[in-house]
Amino acid sequence: MHRPTRRHLTIATALVAATTAAVAVTTAAGAFDNAQQAKDAIKGGKAKNVILLIGDGMGDSEITLARDYTVGANGRLNMDKFPLTGAYTTYAVHADGTPDYVTDSAASGTGWATGVKTVNGRISKTPGTDKPVKTLLELAQKNGYATGDVTTAELTDATPAVLASHATDRSCQGPADMAKCPADTIAAGGPGSIAEQEVNHKVDVLIGGGKQRFDQKVTDGKYKGLTVTEQAKKLGYQVVTDKAGLKGVKSGKPVLGLFANGNVPVEWTGKAAAVGGTDAQRCVTSNPNRPSTTPSLADSASKAIQLLEAKQKQKHSKQGFFLQIEGASIDKQDHAADPCGQIGETAAFDRAVKIARDYAAKHPDTLVVTTADHGHTSQIVPLEATPPGLSSTLVTNEGQQLKVNYSTNTPGQSQEHTGTQVRIAAQGPEAYRVLGLTNQTDLFTTIRQALRMR
Ligand code: CO
Ligand code: CO
Repeated sequence: MHRPTRRHLTIATALVAATTAAVAVTTAAGAFDNAQQAKDAIKGGKAKNVILLIGDGMGDSEITLARDYTVGANGRLNMDKFPLTGAYTTYAVHADGTPDYVTDSAASGTGWATGVKTVNGRISKTPGTDKPVKTLLELAQKNGYATGDVTTAELTDATPAVLASHATDRSCQGPADMAKCPADTIAAGGPGSIAEQEVNHKVDVLIGGGKQRFDQKVTDGKYKGLTVTEQAKKLGYQVVTDKAGLKGVKSGKPVLGLFANGNVPVEWTGKAAAVGGTDAQRCVTSNPNRPSTTPSLADSASKAIQLLEAKQKQKHSKQGFFLQIEGASIDKQDHAADPCGQIGETAAFDRAVKIARDYAAKHPDTLVVTTADHGHTSQIVPLEATPPGLSSTLVTNEGQQLKVNYSTNTPGQSQEHTGTQVRIAAQGPEAYRVLGLTNQTDLFTTIRQALRMR
């Protein structure tokens, strides 16, 4: 039966609600009018600066887990507050260009850093012919921008590496690690290890872990016999190893911050997920193995922005900077099925997102992009579920139990990346380019276009 009266009534009610919403942005819990915010946010034009934040392995489930635990199911993280959000595909390719549905950080990083997809394990080189491809950081330098590369992993790990090096395999991190990159060695006429290439690139700000790689001795060429750290000093770098050192660096000379031998220690600890689950646990928001002298990712992000901005002011440059900031151990703790470690790193990354957004609030000519390189394992499952593999029950900050499952690989093995699309969120000039469903390689074009780089 046709009932027009009822239907018209509903439309009229909706119209009244819409009019009201235009005045008061938030009408009720869950009712939020995005229209004006989106309209204001969609603008083209040249960006002076770009801050790109990569949560390694930070798929939708990792974001949701951190949100539920820290600010609550109806709370919002800083990374949830971008006006424009889309999704992108992350797949890698085989040597013949056919899709490899699950990427690693090297191939995915090569995708966003160069616009060219490659094989898993490759650092900014082509899939078949293994030829170097120009990166966003190299283009930024050529176009007069200051550049920074910040991570909580080793600086020579895949995500920071894709911007400032080209290597056949991601394992070729220091001069003693070149087994899988015979053509890249200096002896063979190549550019050397990832560590050597990063300092040779004279990136203005390099901050992360991985001191052990930079302590290795260069085996050939101009710096033979020196450690990579000594090579960096010869190239003008100020080398710092802790929070006080970072605080004391002066702008005008490049900075190499090495805050751990390996990965920078994680912020939070707890029980790892186990077969059959764990007792309900609260995460410990500290780590006895993390020295108090270790800067947080937000500390590093804040200092990097300050140094890059100061350099361009000293040069009286109209161009700003390009800065990449990676929260690396979201991925590493997901591999280890350690929910507290993972959530703590996501929360730490989110504080770095706030630093970037606070800067952009004062400098609206800054494009800020927050995304991931690929999805990962952790899934929030019902409390009554008895999933295979590893799981853990957490008690969230809002006092509720939450069960998280890790089952992308057999217990005891490293949990795996997934092939899912991931979130990409942005604000500032050209940010609208992230809307809809794009490909990871489109992020290269977005940033190149925003900075008008040739
Ligand atoms: Co990754
Ligand atoms: Co990983």
